[in-house]
Amino acid sequence: MITVSGGNLKIIIIAAVSANFVIGNDEKIPWHSSEDFKHFKKTTLGFPLIMGRKTFESIGKPLPGRETLIISSNSNYNVPENVKVFPTIINALDYCRSKKSEKVFICGGGTIYKNSMNLADELLITEMKFNAKGNIYFPKINKDIWNVQEVLADNEEFKIVNYKKK
Ligand SMILES: NC(=O)c1ccc[n+]([C@@H]2O[C@H](COP(=O)([O-])OP(=O)(O)OC[C@H]3O[C@@H](n4cnc5c(N)ncnc54)[C@H](OP(=O)(O)O)[C@@H]3O)[C@@H](O)[C@H]2O)c1
Repeated sequence: MITVSGGNLKIIIIAAVSANFVIGNDEKIPWHSSEDFKHFKKTTLGFPLIMGRKTFESIGKPLPGRETLIISSNSNYNVPENVKVFPTIINALDYCRSKKSEKVFICGGGTIYKNSMNLADELLITEMKFNAKGNIYFPKINKDIWNVQEVLADNEEFKIVNYKKK
């Protein structure tokens, strides 16, 4: 049986979003922020990551210290060790529940974010304080659904905002 929510698994969407809501330009993130990378690494280390096949190819390799769960319609997609392929986000979440993971981070890209907003418990958004040129966007954060829980950082470059579902 498929369980969409419930259990003890906390489902967190983590993303870096420009002021004009861009997250990517073709296969790349159109900026480089070492501070945000540090935040991403520190936050996600030790927990599984769910990502779309295109994001995985853009990163080019599994990120160390985190199990990588890729969503793809191609069940024969060839992946390195410690990487698993699932046909749906729900299947990947069920895998995390079966492993009794405490948290899972959904880390893009555009298609995956769009299809997981209704599944997530929290959003952890690095809100960049600049516009970016690109063609992949983060979905609208509906303030009727999402509450700002905490601002975890606020510097010249970005603000990190933790949203919780109401
Ligand atoms: N700023 C950020 O925080 C951030 C984070 C991550 C990524 N990004 C950017 O986002 C962009 C990539 O996003 P994207 O939307 O093009 O691609 P994506 O979401 O990374 O991957 C899309 C692929 O995932 C698979 N997929 C998605 N939904 C599926 C479903 N319901 N069922 C089965 N498979 C599904 C499909 O793979 P198959 O074609 O193999 O079936 C699809 O082609 C890049 O520019 C990347 O740099 C930005």
